[in-house]
Amino acid sequence: MRQIEFHNQNTWFYLKLWLTCIMASANLTDFKNDSSHNSSTNTPSAGKIALELFILILTMNPIQLHSKKFIPYISEKEIDEAITTIANAINQDFEGKRPVMMGVLNGSFMFVSDLMKKITIDCELSFVKLASYHGTESTGVVSELIGLNGDLTDRHVIVLEDIIDTGKTLEYLLDVLKTHETASLSVGTLLLKPEVFKKKYPVQYVGKNIPNKFVVGYGLDYNELGRNLREIYQLAAE
Ligand code: IMP
Ligand code: MG
Repeated sequence: MRQIEFHNQNTWFYLKLWLTCIMASANLTDFKNDSSHNSSTNTPSAGKIALELFILILTMNPIQLHSKKFIPYISEKEIDEAITTIANAINQDFEGKRPVMMGVLNGSFMFVSDLMKKITIDCELSFVKLASYHGTESTGVVSELIGLNGDLTDRHVIVLEDIIDTGKTLEYLLDVLKTHETASLSVGTLLLKPEVFKKKYPVQYVGKNIPNKFVVGYGLDYNELGRNLREIYQLAAE
């Protein structure tokens, strides 16, 4: 039997879903009572309908990418709040410093786009791409760095990642950037998995710490699918 995992972040979502079901079922019961001359017979209670609706919507809720199912995990609102927090901190820390915001493609495109809308100080934008060889399991071995151009000497560089897992990808990029004599080097990420991130370098701006579970959406992919999703989903238990 497939199990649906509950997480703190999802509590509000499931509460809202439950309340919606109760309201819908109450309306349905009223409607049945009004329209039926024999309302006392075989009319299911509002509670029973609510429970059935709740289970129905819950089981319909997962999305499928390739052969895997994913359940809603971080809502658009939560993502927006996390990005606002990062943007406020960057606006404060880099006032008058004209930082170079450096997004790491592909995963960071949505995060960087939404973050930039909240940056109110002067800044520049650039993107790099880290190509890595992956087998069936991610090795984290980076094979090539594409798109690093322009003089970064004495510039304040803020590397922006969608997610930091082991941190190996980022370590490779930071090692390259360290040879450029930048004025400062900072890292911002929408998501961080602290249980697996064992690297020595600091991550100054973190949108949200998450457990070591695979997530998709909002730029993040599962074998190239799911990047276009507006919220973040988590791999459902089999
Ligand atoms: P690293 O282990 O920190 O080097 O992560 C390497 C890359 O794997 C990240 O930049 C992401 O593109 C990808 N990645 C890591 N964790 C996830 C995940 O949970 N979902 C989707 N992509 C991930
Ligand atoms: Mg990435």
